[in-house]
Amino acid sequence: MKIYATNDYQEMSRKAANILSAQVILKPDCVLGLATGSTPIGTYDQLVDWYKKGDVDFSEVKTVNLDEYRGLTRDNDQSYYYFMHEHLFDRVNIKEENTHVPDGTEPDAQKECDRYEALIESMGGVDIQLLGLGHNGHIGFNEPDSVFPQRTHCVNLTESTIEANKRFFASADDVPRQAYTMGIGTIMKAKKILLIVNGEGKADIVAKAFFGPVTPEVPASILQLHRDVIIVADKAALSKVPV
Ligand code: GLP
Repeated sequence: MKIYATNDYQEMSRKAANILSAQVILKPDCVLGLATGSTPIGTYDQLVDWYKKGDVDFSEVKTVNLDEYRGLTRDNDQSYYYFMHEHLFDRVNIKEENTHVPDGTEPDAQKECDRYEALIESMGGVDIQLLGLGHNGHIGFNEPDSVFPQRTHCVNLTESTIEANKRFFASADDVPRQAYTMGIGTIMKAKKILLIVNGEGKADIVAKAFFGPVTPEVPASILQLHRDVIIVADKAALSKVPV
């Protein structure tokens, strides 16, 4: 596990964008695993900037997103499909048919999760998976549990996640209660993992997840066992890491 410390959010975003664009330059038809949330917005902005300058080309890139709220339509501005188009896909030359987000409108959870898992496999797996970190240690929408879920599955969101994500909705009541997410096994199969995290509010969970025991109670802790993980974190997020 490599940890890069940055001074602030901007530097974290630039470093993460650097790593993702290096992947695209080395393998133009790579599969990028992408994430949503507020943390990657600066990374996507930076990639867009470099695309506009002619430094990165997304014409052959393929993407798979980690997760999607169950029940939200693509045109709902809180869906992760909408988020990805707003922050990245509509701003670069990626082909729509090469981008993939779980279909939150498919009512048959098993069918959609099986389809998504098979899709990732058919693409040859993920070359680099971008991750954010939830306050309770979730990655994608893999919430604290007694086991590490292996495959793409439907989850019931915890109260703390609903609370954390309600800022994007009119009220907590509007936050969907379920989501489709890649499993921990799906994420661990990625060839490389890039986790980004910033802010003092995440300092406790960073210390727990990456310097504490590996446990499904802290889903991100499993990343300690992946052979190629890069964490890019600002100083504030690393402030409680044991020296
Ligand atoms: C959401 C997403 C995660 C994300 C996390 C942190 O619930 N499903 O993929 O990493 O919350 O979000 P933020 O970056 O806004 O703190």
